[in-house]
Amino acid sequence: MKNILVIGATGQIGSELTMKLRHDLPGGVTVAGYIPGSEPKGKLLESGPAEKCNVCDAKQIAEIVDKYDIDTIYNLAALLSATAERLPLKAWDIQMNGLINVLEIAREKHCAVFTPSSIGSFGPDTPRDNTPQDTIQRPTSMYGVTKVATELLSDYYHIKYGVDTRSVRFPGLISYTTLPGGGTTDYAVEIYYAAVKGEEFVCPLAPGTYLDMMYMPDALKAAVNIMQARERYLVHRNSFNITSMSFDPEGIAAAIRKEIPDFRMRYEVDPVRQSIADSWPNRMDDVCARKEWGWTPSYNLETMTHDMIVNLRLKLGIK
Ligand code: SER
Repeated sequence: MKNILVIGATGQIGSELTMKLRHDLPGGVTVAGYIPGSEPKGKLLESGPAEKCNVCDAKQIAEIVDKYDIDTIYNLAALLSATAERLPLKAWDIQMNGLINVLEIAREKHCAVFTPSSIGSFGPDTPRDNTPQDTIQRPTSMYGVTKVATELLSDYYHIKYGVDTRSVRFPGLISYTTLPGGGTTDYAVEIYYAAVKGEEFVCPLAPGTYLDMMYMPDALKAAVNIMQARERYLVHRNSFNITSMSFDPEGIAAAIRKEIPDFRMRYEVDPVRQSIADSWPNRMDDVCARKEWGWTPSYNLETMTHDMIVNLRLKLGIK
């Protein structure tokens, strides 16, 4: 990994991953690929090159790969689960036609590719607890359909053409830098904003809805480490279960109340998000990632909650 293109560099993961790659791998260049309307700003813009890069425009991607002698592509362009239910054809276009563009360019120009999968790649027939690495994947959301297909197509390009494709199944990701948009797990970010502002939080998921979650620093670590893992130890490729914690809305609210005792929450369940969440695992088993490339998370619910509250107070200027 020397010269890297991040497609979707201004999104929830991309905005932080681009900065980490520039910081951790200073020998090469990390290009921030963005779409018009989501231009990079501030440090993201100042710390390295940025290029217009629509994942659905193969020519545009190929030109960037040539210009910067790119050897690794992080393909992060996607519509999250609730948005994908509203715009299924657009989700298909970005997630599938975009992916095939990236994989074809990677095949021709010898790039490694990371395209994230998700807890959304599982479905109602999947074992809910300790969800195994290799198990039933029959998702019922468009987001999930595209994520399973992403896993299969990425493995296909590896088996058939030798493209170095690798990825992880991300849980819900929590961060204080860039907001997610249109995901089922977004509540676990929004709840911290409400708590720090002293507002009541209206929770769209019902009590007892357990989902895997992860703090962004751990997600970034996983995205970098898997691409640096020794190839000969990888039995799996697309995609590895990884998790840090599993909680329901009551659990995260209780963790927040340890720091902000008067935090208030009430429920107004969103049927679309609830039915998506009900089809996802409670907690995945990530033993294969631990064994094959040394995955281990650093944050749990308590340490993440403390860090989120401290940093959001700074960001929002609240004492
Ligand atoms: N966070 C995503 C979503 O909720 C799942 O990967 O859509």
